[in-house]
Amino acid sequence: MKTTVSVIKADVGSVAGHAVTHGALLKKCDEILAKAKEEELLTDYYITNCGDDIDLIMTHKNGEENEEVHELAFNAFMEATKVAKSLKLYGAGQDILSDTFSGNIKGMGPGCAEMEFKERPSDPVFVFCCDKTEPGAFNLPVFRMFADPFNTAGLVIDPSLHGGYDFEIFDVIEHRKVTMSCPDEMYDALALLGSIGRYIIKHVTRRSDGEIAASISTERLNLMAGKYIGKDDPVAIVRSQSGFPAAGEVVEPFAFPHLVGGWMRGSHNGPLMPVSQAQAHPVRFDGPPRIISLGFQVSDARLIGPLDMFDDPAFDNSRKTASDVADYMRRHGPFEPHRLPADEMEYTSLPGVLEKLEDRFEDMD
Ligand code: 13P
Ligand code: 13P
Ligand code: MG
Ligand code: MG
Ligand code: MG
Repeated sequence: MKTTVSVIKADVGSVAGHAVTHGALLKKCDEILAKAKEEELLTDYYITNCGDDIDLIMTHKNGEENEEVHELAFNAFMEATKVAKSLKLYGAGQDILSDTFSGNIKGMGPGCAEMEFKERPSDPVFVFCCDKTEPGAFNLPVFRMFADPFNTAGLVIDPSLHGGYDFEIFDVIEHRKVTMSCPDEMYDALALLGSIGRYIIKHVTRRSDGEIAASISTERLNLMAGKYIGKDDPVAIVRSQSGFPAAGEVVEPFAFPHLVGGWMRGSHNGPLMPVSQAQAHPVRFDGPPRIISLGFQVSDARLIGPLDMFDDPAFDNSRKTASDVADYMRRHGPFEPHRLPADEMEYTSLPGVLEKLEDRFEDMD
């Protein structure tokens, strides 16, 4: 029987401003998921948070897009929203776009990454959770895990990885998708993946047998809501070892704190800082953007662990670099490329400013 890992996340309120969710919300989610485990809808679960986003990591036997599992997550977020409102937390219910569940949590605000697989004799699985950024933040590191031999030594030296991986890429603007093979189509794939606001890796599979390797949440809140209601703050699930990148190859791309969109008001580029769970409190200019990683062994659909992957002094230099880059970027103030270009800005006063100036603009020869 196959095991499903479902990671469903939402921001339903935080302290102070957008920094971090509240323990009472995590407790409410725990009560609801514990009951679902008792009733055997879930086999196991682990609840964490990155900043103001609650991440429900759930294992079960019901397959992807299971209505009951999605409804469970939705109810947990709805109940946590009530608690957030009672405490007048900031952004109570922020990511919930609809108050009635309609069969699938997709399109309702929360982000969702899932994968179903037949467990191997040992199945290391990594869950990544972000705050203050968007799904395209995963393009560079996931590409490097599965296609860059300078990151993943196994692509060169391990015959079980040598055949490469397929990348399923979503065009989130035109609502279409394409699957591209690496290494064969690497340059064409990168031509898309460099556009992180539009082309987003959804799944990675092993070319030799189609086995699922990675799954990423691709929901973009502002595209769903039609207005700015916070950043997407995506999640990802990655399998590792024995035909997949080793654990150390899975986390290695995050040693480089690459620039991602998000940060203050979802409208600034900044470095993605890899942090321990204890440091997942984005404060400076509401950031800089954070990522945590939890490593589990999945065993008969139980979650063994986790190990807090970035709680390692070997990532101290990455955090230092991220802080230095944050200083450098901040000095640009409201100027691009710190501030996002107008068409990608979540919040914008530009149309109003242009309207006000309309009569004062003069044609030039
Ligand atoms: P160990 O000898 O510690 O099991 O290491 C094996 C390995 O291949 C690490 O990448
Ligand atoms: P969140 O999506 O994490 O709530 O961030 C919103 C924001 O505008 C931070 O400045
Ligand atoms: Mg928030
Ligand atoms: Mg957030
Ligand atoms: Mg958000």
